[in-house]
Amino acid sequence: MKASIFHETGDVDVLKYEDINTPEIGDNDVLVKIKASTLNSLDLKLRAGTSPRPVELPHIGGIDISGQVESTGSSVSNVSPGDRVVINPTVRLEKGFSVVGVNQHGGFAEYVSVPSSNVVKIPDSLSFDDASTLPVCYVTAIYGLINRGGLKSGDTVVVHAAGSGTGSAAIEVAKHYGAKVIATAGSDEKLEKAKELGADQAINYKNEDFAEVIKGGVDIIFDQVGAGYWDKNIKILKPGGKLLLIGVVGGAVVEKAMLGPLIMRDISVIGVTMFNAPNSVLEEAVKLAGEGKFKPAIFKKFPLSENHEAQKVLQESEQFGKVILNP
Ligand SMILES: NC(=O)c1ccc[n+]([C@@H]2O[C@H](COP(=O)([O-])OP(=O)(O)OC[C@H]3O[C@@H](n4cnc5c(N)ncnc54)[C@H](OP(=O)(O)O)[C@@H]3O)[C@@H](O)[C@H]2O)c1
Repeated sequence: MKASIFHETGDVDVLKYEDINTPEIGDNDVLVKIKASTLNSLDLKLRAGTSPRPVELPHIGGIDISGQVESTGSSVSNVSPGDRVVINPTVRLEKGFSVVGVNQHGGFAEYVSVPSSNVVKIPDSLSFDDASTLPVCYVTAIYGLINRGGLKSGDTVVVHAAGSGTGSAAIEVAKHYGAKVIATAGSDEKLEKAKELGADQAINYKNEDFAEVIKGGVDIIFDQVGAGYWDKNIKILKPGGKLLLIGVVGGAVVEKAMLGPLIMRDISVIGVTMFNAPNSVLEEAVKLAGEGKFKPAIFKKFPLSENHEAQKVLQESEQFGKVILNP
């Protein structure tokens, strides 16, 4: 099969489009013919060698995958060849978990082998491209806002880095569950798109201080920026508010944190990792997307052979939403 593979870490030119053996499957596995694979910032960190989760080389990245079942192991009964599926990338092990595209070969290829318990069937109403945006971003958004954040209809939610894949999904998820959404991003173009997705208010953090603009306090912050926004985030939360820590694109270390306001205003700081989300969250995302409740923001599509060009788009933060590879 063809794959976009890297034998060493480095800039995008380490990605080689090569022929390698199609993966073998065990009794409980499924071979999926990949139709779409969506890029995430983690793919870039793994390829660059800057992730705290280093990969075994050579490596095929790609965490977000949809496709069609090609063949199944002898013990598989939940899917059959021809079924349209999306893959939950978190493979549960006896101790801990392994992630498709991180600890094992992923979706930047023509085929991938995964345990049958990791595939979720998708309805005909859901395209392969849209389905491939669900496992990371929509699962993180639903698991974060609903399971961890306890979002209620009528809550006010701030979504930072609203142009990121996860941020754009969080806007749709928060709106679907009845929240008022305030989006922040670094360009007016991204803010326009955030409004098209349903954001009620949009703030360009390069021109305005969101902590000055937001009046009246907010219930939940879906934050992918991290340390750089710590003080301002705490300032804008209502008493009882929740700060969901999703990512750290703006720094992972808070040098000085005033703890008093957290105590005095009953503020919760909540870590969120999609790797702990149960399969039911992906099933919910598939159901809602299949019903047309989510319209994933797809920024650009590339053939698999042009993974290096696709990764440049994320590297330059050009995108609003997702960049997709099609084999
Ligand atoms: N916790 C989880 O389970 C989970 C799951 C998925 C992703 N994540 C994390 O979420 C983050 C985003 O991932 P992604 O793949 O969705 O990202 P992405 O699509 O690559 O987008 C990241 C965006 O962040 C914005 N940004 C970058 N530096 C910034 C800064 N210093 N201040 C404010 N905004 C900044 C940029 O847009 P602007 O133009 O607005 O600056 C950029 O487009 C990453 O840290 C990732 O590790 C966590």
